[in-house]
Amino acid sequence: MDVTRLISNRSRSIDASGIRRVFDLGAKLKDPINLSIGQPDFPVPDAVKKAAVEHIQGNANGYTVTQGIAPLRNRLARHLADDLGWDCDPRPASEADMAKPGVIVTSGTSGGIVLAFMALMDPGDEVIIPDPYFVMYPHLCRLIGAVPVLCDTYPDFKMTAERVEKLITPKTKIVLLNTPSNPSGAVLNQRECDQLLELCRRKGIMLVSDEIYDEFTYADARVLSPVGDKTTRLPSPGRVKGSADDLLLLRGFGKTYGMTGWRLGYAAGPRRIIEEMAKLQQYTYVCAPSALQWGAMAALDVDMKPHIESYQKRRDLVVEKLSRVTDLAVPGGAFYAFPRVPGRLGLSASQFIEKCLEKSVLVIPGNVFSKRDTHFRLSYATDERSLTRGLDALVELMGG
Ligand SMILES: Cc1ncc(COP(=O)(O)O)c(C=O)c1O
Repeated sequence: MDVTRLISNRSRSIDASGIRRVFDLGAKLKDPINLSIGQPDFPVPDAVKKAAVEHIQGNANGYTVTQGIAPLRNRLARHLADDLGWDCDPRPASEADMAKPGVIVTSGTSGGIVLAFMALMDPGDEVIIPDPYFVMYPHLCRLIGAVPVLCDTYPDFKMTAERVEKLITPKTKIVLLNTPSNPSGAVLNQRECDQLLELCRRKGIMLVSDEIYDEFTYADARVLSPVGDKTTRLPSPGRVKGSADDLLLLRGFGKTYGMTGWRLGYAAGPRRIIEEMAKLQQYTYVCAPSALQWGAMAALDVDMKPHIESYQKRRDLVVEKLSRVTDLAVPGGAFYAFPRVPGRLGLSASQFIEKCLEKSVLVIPGNVFSKRDTHFRLSYATDERSLTRGLDALVELMGG
């Protein structure tokens, strides 16, 4: 049977990820220096593994309620109270105080993004996303028939209110913020978060904040905040007014605890939206992995600071080496940098990546994340030796 003609237009409209192309090319290299990986290089903490294994052996392997196990939702409500001053009600709709924000455990942060988009967007509705963006955003828009409107954030990669305001139309329903950012590591400061939230409020648009890298926010990015409390962690929009009425928060466990394959995230925000997301989760993912939800609960009690500090040191190494040979916006968080391919080379980023491959260095060309093909993403979530080797090769390629 010719199955090709059976493939939907929806699926045909999506290109296989450019990241996968780099991985395929990398698979052919003998001893690659891989600076393309989007996940941490530390193992899941032992206490977390233990909690998950105990629950697998204790037969917690069936479905859970779609919102996630009650102990994890309660723990998340406590976490959000400590972190943002939010007063969530983690109980299901039938019992909850409907005026308070809700919480739902999702299948990865991706699951949260999918549910949020499905809950809020009709075909033709517009969502403003940063350019450069996390690869999933524009593709997911197309899958559900929504229109991605790209907000050009070059050269500092900040999706500020000033840049967003010009793009708002009567069809705009979501502004999707990602701080710290994939692929640039850019972090909005407190004032910029405040202004964006205020703009969305004024225009009646939902600010959806993808904060999967929330724990990877480096000390100097916090201190950069002109009005923020230096003792607090992330300059998150949620912290600004202490309100969850106009902000849908999407977070994850995968990056923070090195458990990307466990597929766990959570969403918190306006109760009405969380309930819609729960309804949609019931008929799609059903629930997040059951035993692993117990692991996630244990994870919230683990201090990941030593890992984060080690990532900050690697970030410093990247900045020290690369800013001598090219333009680099200093990343305030995540574990990526997004340097420019120097104009003097006369190469697009895709062409530059071919040169990198000749030196066995794997990085990702900017056009995977952007309309432009001028920058490349490098991940420093790798051991210091490989990172140093890779950076030295890049410096040499850029004529340093
Ligand atoms: C900005 C951003 N959001 C969401 C995700 C997806 O996270 P998860 O693996 O939890 O679905 C990623 C993963 O790379 C990401 O970089």
